[in-house]
Amino acid sequence: MGRNYDIAVIAGDGIGKEVVPEGQRVVEAAARRFGFSVDWKEHDWSCDYYARHGRMMPEDGVEQVRGSHAIFLGAVGWPNVPDHISTWDLILRLRRELNLYVALRPARLLKGITSPLAGRDAKDIDFVIVRENSEGEYSSAGGILYQGTPEELVIQESVFSRRATDRILRYAFELARTRRNKVSLATKSNGIKIAMPYWDERFAAVAAEYPDVEANKFHIDILTAHFVNHPDWFDVVVGSNLFGDILSDLGPAVAGSIGIAPSGNIDPTRTNPSMFEPVHGSAPDIAGQGIANPIGQIWAGAMMLEHLGELEAARAIETAIETVLSQGGPRTRDLGGSAGTIEAGKAIADALA
Ligand code: NAI
Ligand code: MG
Repeated sequence: MGRNYDIAVIAGDGIGKEVVPEGQRVVEAAARRFGFSVDWKEHDWSCDYYARHGRMMPEDGVEQVRGSHAIFLGAVGWPNVPDHISTWDLILRLRRELNLYVALRPARLLKGITSPLAGRDAKDIDFVIVRENSEGEYSSAGGILYQGTPEELVIQESVFSRRATDRILRYAFELARTRRNKVSLATKSNGIKIAMPYWDERFAAVAAEYPDVEANKFHIDILTAHFVNHPDWFDVVVGSNLFGDILSDLGPAVAGSIGIAPSGNIDPTRTNPSMFEPVHGSAPDIAGQGIANPIGQIWAGAMMLEHLGELEAARAIETAIETVLSQGGPRTRDLGGSAGTIEAGKAIADALA
């Protein structure tokens, strides 16, 4: 019996529908080369679906994908549906109901990409941001008193449990052991005087379980400056939901275009399928023209295969992307080329074969 994976596909809206087929093309090419197979189960959940059904996905949508090995998502959002509805009704439901409590974003400068940071090349930028994805600052605990009066008073509570804090910290240390054995914590214990000293304390406790991994911490303000000035200092960077959110846009930005950055939403317990997607959205401004960069989606496919245990295939996809980019192969306009989405995707699939 060969290795076979059931993958739920949600292409979504806009350029999601253009880049997902290229991601599938490259994963298929990897499957042929490395001897596994993929069954894709496509779901048309999107803002189009909303226009027809008044919701982003069927009531039992989460149950429909729960049995798959992974979810391959394009991008969700279109001007016909308010963003808070399209995001909360589809992506956030999947993240929460499937317990995808790690948001994982590599910030790696690929060969053949020019960083916006002067004088940096591929060996200088290779780190991963691990964001707590289930609680923290993004909670709905709080309220407004005296609304609409000059006495208005707003309270928004952050929520940190030992369970969620420790599990994300452990994930970061485990990941570091597969990389360069270094974890940096994003903190702000000089200003946020209850929750962040607590993070520092849990970080020290978990770090003690990993004496082989170097651990250090930075306040979030100076950490953002270090991402720009010293990206080579970092291997795994872990932070709360809010700090992780900010860092996970800054990290990929120093490593190049938004069109190439991938992300994973992971259930490390492997009870539920994890979800892989590009960082970018549906890009209504360029959708329908066939010019979107498919690399973010293709790289997300590599992350998905790595999660499924197909390490060689994952590395081969990353190498194929770098080969095409560094040897003058077709590239899309956002990277200074003139190729279309399909041409760029096919070139990477060919480099892989
Ligand atoms: P966006 O990422 O869709 O676009 C930002 C800019 O980057 C645009 O100028 C776009 O043309 C460009 N861009 C993005 N991806 C590209 C690619 N692959 N190749 C070339 N250029 C690319 O972000 P925006 O405009 O803020 O959001 C548009 C819609 O996407 C909204 O409805 C938003 O809610 C949704 N969105 C969905 C996400 C998801 O599904 N996880 C993530 C971010 C936004
Ligand atoms: Mg964000």
